[in-house]
Amino acid sequence: MKWEPDNFQLEHNSVWSFPERGNWATHDSNYRGNCSPYVFRNLLIRYSNESDWILDQFVGGGTSLVEAKLLNRNIIGTDINPDALEICRTKVNFGVGTGKVEIRLSDARHLDFIKDNSIDFICTHPPYANVIKYSNDIKADISLLDYDCFLSAMEPVAIEAYRVLKKNKYCAFIIGDIRQKSFIRHLGFDTLKRFEQVGFKLKDTIIKVQHNCQSTHKWKRIAIDNNFFLLAHEYIFVMKK
Ligand SMILES: C[S@@+](CC[C@H](N)C(=O)[O-])C[C@H]1O[C@@H](n2cnc3c(N)ncnc32)[C@H](O)[C@@H]1O
Repeated sequence: MKWEPDNFQLEHNSVWSFPERGNWATHDSNYRGNCSPYVFRNLLIRYSNESDWILDQFVGGGTSLVEAKLLNRNIIGTDINPDALEICRTKVNFGVGTGKVEIRLSDARHLDFIKDNSIDFICTHPPYANVIKYSNDIKADISLLDYDCFLSAMEPVAIEAYRVLKKNKYCAFIIGDIRQKSFIRHLGFDTLKRFEQVGFKLKDTIIKVQHNCQSTHKWKRIAIDNNFFLLAHEYIFVMKK
């Protein structure tokens, strides 16, 4: 197995594009809506150090866990869906890297088991409201919520993130906008506002180019007919406490 990407270079400007999503270690694209490992690798190297404690409170298929372990960072990964955590356990079952991995079934709005001011870096990837539903009926699954309820749910997420992060440390999250009835809703900036309201300061906005969107072919015709552009970017917001 290949444990590192070939010729990896840190990103230096605010537009990131990874046409090859990254297939080293145990990474794959099977978990719906999962993230390229290049994103987590860049964020972890730039905003954390070896032996730091990292938090990903929407851990999904475990991309961040694999990268943190390989890069000798310790990480806590939480998700509300037990099936996701099962995938995470398989993904980190390898012997390379010295990072400890703690996997917990938990709601990102209630991280009571994490002490105040104890985390060195948060990097996470919440659902994009209900664009992808990650379960059918898990009560605390915020991917089942409509736009406004999702934003309300992100308020306690932001409060918890601020509480557990050490002062002067960074919190980054990945999110996209959505199109409803051919109009754009700025889910990214609306979510960012919830984090700013609890005290985070925006340090960087990165545009991440989206490749191989599954629905591109279906939507191409609709986009032409309705005279709009297909969304092919997401945001990575990096904030400081
Ligand atoms: C976009 S996915 C994360 C994908 C992940 N970055 C990866 O690369 O595999 C978002 C995750 O948030 C989880 N989720 C939804 N509501 C949650 C909540 N209240 N607390 C924690 N996780 C939640 C979903 O189960 C889903 O796995």
